[in-house]
Amino acid sequence: MKIGILGTGSYLPEKVLTNDDLAKMVDTNDEWIRTRTGIIERRIVAEDEATSDLAYKAAKSAIEDAGINKDEIELIIVATMTPDHVTPSTAAIVQDRLGIRAAAFDLSAACTGFVYAYTTGYSFIRAGIYKKVLVIGAEAMTRTIDWEDRGTCILFGDGAGAVVLGETDSGGFIASNLVADGSGACELMIPSGGSRKPVSIETIKNKEIYMQMNGREIFKFAVKVFPETVENVLEQGNITADDVDLFIPHQANIRIIESIAKRFKQSMDKFYVNLQKYGNTSAATIPIAIDEANKEGRLKKGDKLVAVGFGGGLTYGSVLFEWSK
Ligand code: COA
Repeated sequence: MKIGILGTGSYLPEKVLTNDDLAKMVDTNDEWIRTRTGIIERRIVAEDEATSDLAYKAAKSAIEDAGINKDEIELIIVATMTPDHVTPSTAAIVQDRLGIRAAAFDLSAACTGFVYAYTTGYSFIRAGIYKKVLVIGAEAMTRTIDWEDRGTCILFGDGAGAVVLGETDSGGFIASNLVADGSGACELMIPSGGSRKPVSIETIKNKEIYMQMNGREIFKFAVKVFPETVENVLEQGNITADDVDLFIPHQANIRIIESIAKRFKQSMDKFYVNLQKYGNTSAATIPIAIDEANKEGRLKKGDKLVAVGFGGGLTYGSVLFEWSK
């Protein structure tokens, strides 16, 4: 049985925050952000918007694109590191808003979340447990940001992307590689808000409720693990980088993507890039990119695609699949 993407969707909040806007908030400037990251602007959730609102809109559009009845969805997975609440899951909120009966859970693997969730959704179908699975990556990253920390506030944005997975005539999922290295947990962390350090006046004062990141270490980590995980799925699929039609990398920093293109001796045209518009939307970046590439007509039936994620955990991984729409 071939299992592939039946439909894609995405949603980006309306409000745009430009580099010039950020330069009014912290000691930075448009030129530094563009040259060091490639980001020009990012989207920000409205005051009354949360992750489930973005996820719901992306999901609706993916179901429409798949041309299926929403009641055919049997499982909803939301990959997110910025859920509406610690409990209930964001996936359960989306299930209720879609008005369907389905199993639903959140998956926490930070920026690698979608790659993990895609593999999980695929596995449920492969095992014969469900026929159609809705896989969403959704984030309100700006809700975790310390707007006085120029090392992080310039990088992240909000958004959601979704795909419907199911049986296809041809192509679909080929291989997956999922890795975690928890020894690097402290390199990207929100220290307070969980059971280790519940929110208190002290953790608020110490800004431990915000994301803390060691940018240089994450950069080095990304450049090291990206080729490793790509090589793993290429080997499993018995193909080379030359055979890949489009790489869909995590959108963290243009310099990371450029260094990988160079390493694999591939032109940048073979790497989908939209970080200039949205920044790093964590688990949402890859499904947003897949949806944009799909809607732009950039994906042809039979194209070999590699989606690659890396981030908090630390986690990283790839999925190799063939476009079957
Ligand atoms: N504006 C202006 N200057 C800044 C700045 C900003 N927003 N942020 C840092 N700087 C300064 C630093 O203070 C430093 O100044 P100094 O040399 O006087 O000490 C200088 O720029 C270089 O800092 P550095 O941290 O070495 O910059 P960098 O080239 O590593 O870029 C990141 C910083 C965060 C853009 C980069 O490390 C990065 O993208 N890392 C990966 C982050 C990531 O992908 N995170 C998500 C993972 S999913």
